[in-house]
Amino acid sequence: MNQFRQDVIDGLSQPNKTLPSKYFYDKKGDELFIQIMSMPEYYLTKAEMDIFANQTAALTALLQIDKSQPLEIIELGAGDGTKTAKLLAYLLEQQYDFKYYPVDISSNALEILTKHYQNILPDLKMECMCGDYIAQVNELSHSNNPKVVLFLGSNIGNLTDEQATSFLNELSKQLNAGDRIVLGVDLIKSRDIVLPAYNDAQGITKAFNMNLLDRINQELGADFDSNAFDHCPEYEAQEGIARSYLKSLQDQAVKIGELTVKFAAGEKIQTECSRKYNDTVLQSILDDTTIVLENKILDNRQLFADYILKKQ
Ligand SMILES: C[S@@+](CC[C@H](N)C(=O)[O-])C[C@H]1O[C@@H](n2cnc3c(N)ncnc32)[C@H](O)[C@@H]1O
Repeated sequence: MNQFRQDVIDGLSQPNKTLPSKYFYDKKGDELFIQIMSMPEYYLTKAEMDIFANQTAALTALLQIDKSQPLEIIELGAGDGTKTAKLLAYLLEQQYDFKYYPVDISSNALEILTKHYQNILPDLKMECMCGDYIAQVNELSHSNNPKVVLFLGSNIGNLTDEQATSFLNELSKQLNAGDRIVLGVDLIKSRDIVLPAYNDAQGITKAFNMNLLDRINQELGADFDSNAFDHCPEYEAQEGIARSYLKSLQDQAVKIGELTVKFAAGEKIQTECSRKYNDTVLQSILDDTTIVLENKILDNRQLFADYILKKQ
């Protein structure tokens, strides 16, 4: 059985149904996510762009890169790479010797990224890796050279705190002492700012969430009726975790190949969690790892942080 089918069946067989967010990103999902990033409500990308576009020199200085050795830059979940391009352009301009390794589960995203970078950064040395960075964490390193790992865009927010600790520990095994991680996280803030980012007025986040059902229909031969589900995001600032759900609007049974999954009216499938951070949350995740918090840069509105982490 392929991994997608297995993960869908496992997730929908639990008492509290879930679907892994990494499956949002088929061709349509990639297109929708690019649209989400330009929605006025989706402050995350604009905030992190402020750091990468306007604080590039400060960010580079914090990485304390040794110019005498070639550097490996590995990006986890690179997506369209618009923010990263600002950093890479600066490093090329400053004549750093490096190679860039974007990793993404979406081959379509990597194709778009490669074409874009060939146009705007023709001197960039790069090599793509298509796959799940969690399942393939032990394949991320390409040499014993110093490394900077970019884990941007609040990607780590899709993991629970326990999963984040475990992932960072595995990642740490691929690093040498002194290697750095740039961890882009959304900061804990009020509901009136966070919730609209997952429920924009134009309905793009809704289309993004519902597209997961279309993908399951197309790739796994299921018969989800997307009109019988609704997009349903939730967030409480006290807890600091945004969650997106697909809510069944009626009692119904859905076929996924041989399997029949029953839904009660009002029952929800959790499709995404987006953990928001502060220093205390991050420190408690790092406590059981060999990675230390070294520094951080905030955007001009203090909505988002890029933490600089160091392997001990
Ligand atoms: C929220 S987007 C962020 C993109 C980019 N880092 C940014 O900050 O704009 C998430 C990206 O990570 C990829 N992704 C999500 N989960 C992944 C996983 N487990 N392994 C590899 N790529 C993943 C998706 O395909 C998508 O391109």
